[in-house]
Amino acid sequence: MNLAGKKILLGVSGGIAAYKSCELLRLLQKKGAEVRVCMTESATQFVAPLTFASLSKCPVYLKSGAVEARPFQHIDFPRWADLYLVVPATANAIGKFACGIADDPVSLCFMSCNCPRFIAPAMNVAMYNSPAVKRNLEALRGFENTTVLESPAGELACGEVGQGRLLEPAEIVKWLEANSVILSVAHCAESKDLPAVPKAPEPPAFPVAQDIEPTLDKTLPGYGKKVLITAGRTEEAIDPVRYISNRSSGKTAVAIAATFLASGFDVSVVAGPMEAEFPGGVHVTRVKSACDMHAAVLAQAKDADVLVHCAAVADYRPKAPANEKIKDSRSQLVLELVPNPNILRDCTAARLEGRAKPSQVIVGFALETDHFKEHAAEKLQKSGADALLLNAPVASGSGFGFDDVRYALVRPGADIPEMKLGSKVDLAQEIVDFAKGKLDGRI
Ligand SMILES: Cc1cc2nc3c(=O)[nH]c(=O)nc-3n(C[C@H](O)[C@H](O)[C@H](O)COP(=O)(O)O)c2cc1C
Repeated sequence: MNLAGKKILLGVSGGIAAYKSCELLRLLQKKGAEVRVCMTESATQFVAPLTFASLSKCPVYLKSGAVEARPFQHIDFPRWADLYLVVPATANAIGKFACGIADDPVSLCFMSCNCPRFIAPAMNVAMYNSPAVKRNLEALRGFENTTVLESPAGELACGEVGQGRLLEPAEIVKWLEANSVILSVAHCAESKDLPAVPKAPEPPAFPVAQDIEPTLDKTLPGYGKKVLITAGRTEEAIDPVRYISNRSSGKTAVAIAATFLASGFDVSVVAGPMEAEFPGGVHVTRVKSACDMHAAVLAQAKDADVLVHCAAVADYRPKAPANEKIKDSRSQLVLELVPNPNILRDCTAARLEGRAKPSQVIVGFALETDHFKEHAAEKLQKSGADALLLNAPVASGSGFGFDDVRYALVRPGADIPEMKLGSKVDLAQEIVDFAKGKLDGRI
């Protein structure tokens, strides 16, 4: 969509990312859009209204009314707008939108506008993953004319890592320009028959732990120790019905979880989509995308004694998943991919920086199809893991979905052993023995 000539109302709520709204305003203006601003009271603590008034060359709509030009801005501004962007949207603002509270300019405009509304959440990862925010975002995704823009994972202003970052202003502009069908609806804003805006892509799946208490046997070697395992594959949305993924069945992770459980460990799993099922007693957190898995793992890894990164995580994801099914135009379609966060490396970094137990044992997985030893040695060195389970699914009769696999446990400073063909249970036992040896100080 060409943003030139579009009237855009920018709602700014009180998060640390509020300063980025100034950049967004300028970028929108550069594209030829006319921008007006409304702010919550707490947003004015982060950026002075005068900044927005100067940049937009228009009085800012504020609760205090200090910079107000007219008494009916809560109606005027939303009626004027072709689009309403709330950037950043705080947890508080999101809660108000979802619950129908309208006691400040940003929430009032949200309620009274009938043009397409776009919400860019930005907050700390714990806030983002809180049940209330998840529920409210989920509710908003179901609202007519409302699109929740994806919040990428990464380093947050507070220094923590996870989902909750504000989508960069340039990315927001690109996203708006790329989603021509949605924005063409904005032209109908004056019409009484406003067509429904297509629904946002399926929301990220968030942790849902199965509340099963394992029977803990104090005589077992793993008693009192926690292991966190990543499992399955990830799905990276292209549009609401398509995704990029791989063929991982999750069987190896199930064997590893069962073997740790049998050794008395408290076993938690962050699992992407997979066919195999975990035994009772394993706490399972379900996720879909690599970013979801990254956030869930970093949130849970802190107090784990052992981390096993077994999931087949997509290295890349589509940069801007479409909000509606991409139509078949019979012409070439280019998908731009961006790298996903590296979960293994971020976990070893967390241990190094004291954000996880220093004694934590970290085991990665390296699925290789060629130059096995060279690739495994390089990955082990770059990852900072204590061991890497090199495995090769391409060998005939082994790999994805099969019970046998070719594998070798690679450790820093040791010769890389030849891969052997064994069952996934054998592989799991080798990992558990290694973890126990490391925890006991025998290795
Ligand atoms: C330094 C600081 C940074 C904050 N950053 C955020 C943030 O990024 N996201 C968020 O949801 N809340 C953040 N908060 C909390 C909000 O400012 C607080 O919930 C406030 O009531 C939001 O009001 P509003 O939604 O009306 O703007 C922050 C608070 C402080 C003091």
